[in-house]
Order: sequence, then C-alpha cells, then structure tokens
Amino acid sequence: MRRRPKFKSIETRHHEEREDLFRHLRNLDRRSFMKVSIAAAAAVAAKGLFHPHSFMPIDVAYGATTNDQGFRIAYISDSHLYDRKTNDRFVRQLLRAVDDVNGLDPQPDFVLYGGDLAQLGQPGELDLGAQILKNVKAPVHMMVGEHDWYLDLGDKWRALFGQPTYSFDHKGVHFVVLNSVVEKDFWTARGMTPMQRMQTVAGLDNGIQSRFEVGDEQRKWLQNDLAKVPKTTPLIVFSHSPLYKYYRNWNFWTDDADQVQAILKPYSRVTVIHGHTHQLLSNRIGNISFHGMLSTAWPWPYAPQGLPPLTVQMNRPNPFDPNDGVGDGEAIVHADGLVDKVYNLWNRNPVQVSAAYLSSGGKKDPPVKPNLTSF
Ligand SMILES: [Fe+2]
Ligand SMILES: [Fe+2]
Repeated sequence: MRRRPKFKSIETRHHEEREDLFRHLRNLDRRSFMKVSIAAAAAVAAKGLFHPHSFMPIDVAYGATTNDQGFRIAYISDSHLYDRKTNDRFVRQLLRAVDDVNGLDPQPDFVLYGGDLAQLGQPGELDLGAQILKNVKAPVHMMVGEHDWYLDLGDKWRALFGQPTYSFDHKGVHFVVLNSVVEKDFWTARGMTPMQRMQTVAGLDNGIQSRFEVGDEQRKWLQNDLAKVPKTTPLIVFSHSPLYKYYRNWNFWTDDADQVQAILKPYSRVTVIHGHTHQLLSNRIGNISFHGMLSTAWPWPYAPQGLPPLTVQMNRPNPFDPNDGVGDGEAIVHADGLVDKVYNLWNRNPVQVSAAYLSSGGKKDPPVKPNLTSF
C-alpha cells in the first residue's frame, strides 16, 4: 500500500522553523548567526515579502554622497523584542537590520542603536537584543528607550550597556547621547508594581504617566560637557524621543525640549537624530536639524496634529506586510559636520533628506517623494 506523504500544516511548519531559529539563537556565535539570518531571509522570501528594492538603498546613498571627506554612520532602532517564545517576527527583523548594516561597503564608522531594544524591559528581552547586536561588525553605540527602562529603572540595561548618558568625539564632530525618556515619579504614590509601571509607560497614549524629559541633572551634565567644546564644532545629538514638541498625547514630545535647545543654540551646526516615532520625520528649529529613525518592528502612523512641515511623509504602509514601513538607515556626515539622513525602507525606495533641504527651510534639494501605493 502506498503511504500518503506526511502532511505538515502551515502552523506546524511555522513552529518548526521558529524552534530552529531559537535553537540557533541560544548560542549565537558568528557561524550560527549566519545560519539564522539566512534562514530568516529565506522565510521572508518564501512568503513573498521580499521586495526587489530591498538592497538598492546602499547604492543610491553611495552614488549621491561620496564626494567629500566626510564619513557615514548607520542606525538600527526600535526593535521592541519580546521574550523569544512570544514573538519571533521582531527577532527576524532585527537580524535583518544587522545583516543590512554588516553588508554596507565600506562599513560605517559606527552604528547607533536608537533605543526600545526591548518591549517590556524584561531581562530576557534585553539579553536577546544584546546577543544579536554582538554580531554587528562595526562598533555599536547604545541609546536607551522607555521600553528598555521602566521595569527596573535601567538596572539591567546599565549592566549590559553602561551609562545611558555620554559623549565622544569622532573626526571633528562632538557626539552626545542622552536619556530623553526620564519621567517624574507617577508610580510610588499609586503603589504600582514594577510591571504595572512598565506597562503604563509602554502604553503610548496612557495618560497616567508623566511626559518625557531630559531633566535637570542631564541638562547640567550637557552644559558641563559642552563647556569644553568650541562653538564652531559640529554637534550631533542622539535622543530617543524627539527633542521638540510634536504630539503630547503620544509622548512624541520632550517636555524640557526648549531648555535643551537653548543649550545647543550657540553652536551653528547641530543635528539631532532620534528614535521613538517609527516614521520619516524631519524638522528644523533655529540652528537645529532633527531627523527621526525608522523602527525595525512596526511603523507608527503620523500624529493627528503637530507634524513638522518639512517632513516628507512616508506612504501609509501595507497593514498585511510586516516588512512595509520599517527598516534601518544611515546618516552621511559631510566634512563640515552637516548630515544627510538616509531612510532605508525595506519595501520601498530609500528616501534621503539632505542637510541643505533642512537648513534652507525646504527651498533647496527637496527629497524625492515616495510614490508607491499608500494603503
Ligand atoms: Fe519605539
Ligand atoms: Fe520609545
């Protein structure tokens, strides 16, 4: 009698593939990382999610920008990893970003991780993220997001990555990394558990929490740090939330942004690169250019009000395609310290927002607007 071929349901195959992925993730040396990331890419391709434009951005960015003595950095942001048993999709997406960045030729001088590595600040989520990010070839500078912080107020994050506030100099540019997601204590008086506190902050529009701020202590630190930096030096500041006031109800907002901007005002070339908003977002206030970063996990919609007018909006992504509206990117730092920002959208053409576009108030060098379907 002929035996019927063994049928495996889609769910069984999905679970087998997932088990395989996590088996390799347990011991992420370079060899198993390659295996896992190739498997992740193959799974994406098999589901028909791989867009032909996927690896185009790199060429486009290089073609447009290799004519001065600047340098480039890459970014990966907002991966929102859950425990590995809960959600493997975000793990795959972070792996894909690591692969993208490792594939850049030449390599970026360093990679900024833009915060929200974890979803609920769990030690397992942060360990998993740290393990994956160890596979980035270039040096990585870490920034903290609110999802990393509010379970234990940063204990685990600091143990893995060090202090969240620091600065360094690189090729004539002074870089500053801030923790912009400091909140006033809303939990003690309410008798909240650490998990209740974390879940309150993780709920984007949960009105109980306080607003994000840089806070007195870090503003003083910033003033001291900049005291030794000549006013002609270009500054690039990394913050998780935008260092301006976009939309308060979703915490797309930093409450003491005006005071931070005042500290940066004496410098003529200032760029702020932030995470948290998961979308193309550009702004210019006085001497400061602001750029949002893409998330590897999901795109947020634009807020109903307060969108900075210089923003070139990305298309509304396909809700059935988890790789649409997300990605990673680069910042091309010119010799004068001004920055072109490249959004490497995984399913769309890249969008480059140049320094000239922002500093001319939108008059020069307008970005090519996305023209694919908006869902
Ligand atoms: Fe985020
Ligand atoms: Fe965030």
